[in-house]
Amino acid sequence: MAEFKEAPAGAPVATQVTVWLQNRFPTAFDAYRVHMSEYYAPKNFNFWYFFGSLALLVLVMQIVTGIFLVMHYKPDAAKAFESVEYIMRDVPWGWLVRYMHSTGASAFFIVVYLHMWRGMIYGSYKKPRELIWIFGCAIFLCLMAEAFMGYLLPWGQMSYWGAQVIINLFAAIPFIGEDLSLLIRGDYVVGDATLNRFFSFHVIAVPLVLLGLVVAHLLALHDVGSNNPDGVEIKARKDPLTGIPLDGIPFHPYHTVHDIVGVSVFLFIFSAIIFFAPELGGYFLEYNNFIPADPLQTPAHIAPVWYFTPYYSMLRAVTDPMVNVFAAVVALAAVLAVLKGGLAGKWKVAVLVGAVVVVVALKVFDAKFWGVVVMGVAVMVLFPLPWLDRSPVKSIRYRPSWNKWLYGIFVLNFLVLGYLGMTPPSATGTLISQIGTMYYFGFFLLMPWWSRIGEFKAVPDRVTFQPH
Ligand code: HEM
Repeated sequence: MAEFKEAPAGAPVATQVTVWLQNRFPTAFDAYRVHMSEYYAPKNFNFWYFFGSLALLVLVMQIVTGIFLVMHYKPDAAKAFESVEYIMRDVPWGWLVRYMHSTGASAFFIVVYLHMWRGMIYGSYKKPRELIWIFGCAIFLCLMAEAFMGYLLPWGQMSYWGAQVIINLFAAIPFIGEDLSLLIRGDYVVGDATLNRFFSFHVIAVPLVLLGLVVAHLLALHDVGSNNPDGVEIKARKDPLTGIPLDGIPFHPYHTVHDIVGVSVFLFIFSAIIFFAPELGGYFLEYNNFIPADPLQTPAHIAPVWYFTPYYSMLRAVTDPMVNVFAAVVALAAVLAVLKGGLAGKWKVAVLVGAVVVVVALKVFDAKFWGVVVMGVAVMVLFPLPWLDRSPVKSIRYRPSWNKWLYGIFVLNFLVLGYLGMTPPSATGTLISQIGTMYYFGFFLLMPWWSRIGEFKAVPDRVTFQPH
């Protein structure tokens, strides 16, 4: 046990209490030092670095408002819809708590998408931060599960039919699909059993995993240190006397104060939405969800909430002709690998056999199944990003100029896919989403090739920073 310290004689009460606590709980003080006052973060963080702390803020807000909602919500198919109406109309401040939670769900995705985008443009996933990124991707998966299950709880028409459509997708998986969807629903149709299990997962199981992953995400970050907009490793240049990175400043108070700017702007917009447009034109709360779930009446147009629609678009893009395009791409890639890949003899055979197996599978199973696969892989492809990117530099600032176009079109494409996923299917829409799906996958799967080519700019030794 560490030595007991003594407060100086006549010290103020606050000092005496601090010393008393230090003697009994030194770990808390060490944690404060390691993660706040002596965590040296790059001094050139810009506004993109607000979104990590904002994600933390929204996480806490969702947990706190969720606790209050659970006090009045009834996870029962016969009572759920009315209990939400009761919260909105009769529970004091219930409307505020509910709108904070529903707007918080969309805000979470906006903040997390921007946070991921920051990671992409500054190459924050590259060595030595691969694990931070992987924990992040797992967080993103949990967040999707959390949002999907939470959406069933108000038991409105969209809750019901959205869940029905998505759970039915699992039935398209060969051999196990039917049993799997039955297991998820707990019944032959979405019903009370589904509502109860989704409630249990939404309220306790997924948040626990999410919290654990966020802790791992931050511990891993603090072990290797933060990246920055220049992609320069600040630990490479330390003060010889103190051992502190020359371009690092203590996280607290400098970045905590900086983050207050982001929090203020965020809360301003967040409050404006809650008080003036909580449904946000049907994007944050869909109008059909103000009608109680009716298993006998299918809504004319079923679409997921906006944050899922880019992936939903990719699912719908996979038609029979699209499967043929996939087969042609796989065959072409295999032929190119064999002819130009410089592979040894046995690897050439392996590539050809693998390609034949994939092409046959593409034709044997139906397009609906491949749609589900494409939707799943669209998220899973994020995990290996640290190894797909072969660029010698991290930040987009020092990559070839044309990379900005590639990244810009990536965002535009993601937004177009998101828009198309909200609209009823049409021939033109399907064609555009097919092109968009190819771009999305091309961006990631061809990255080992395109990220290496072009003219890279010289990365400076020290971060670039203008005091303001
Ligand atoms: C609940 C969700 C999340 C929370 C609360 C969270 C929190 C944070 C915080 C506080 C930071 C440090 C501040 C900053 O760099 O902005 C950070 C950094 C980072 N996060 Fe997240 N994060 C979340 C989700 C994600 C996701 C989904 C990804 C990627 C798939 C991700 C990837 C990263 C990366 C790569 C860094 C290091 C950035 C750098 O050093 O440049 N995070 N995260």
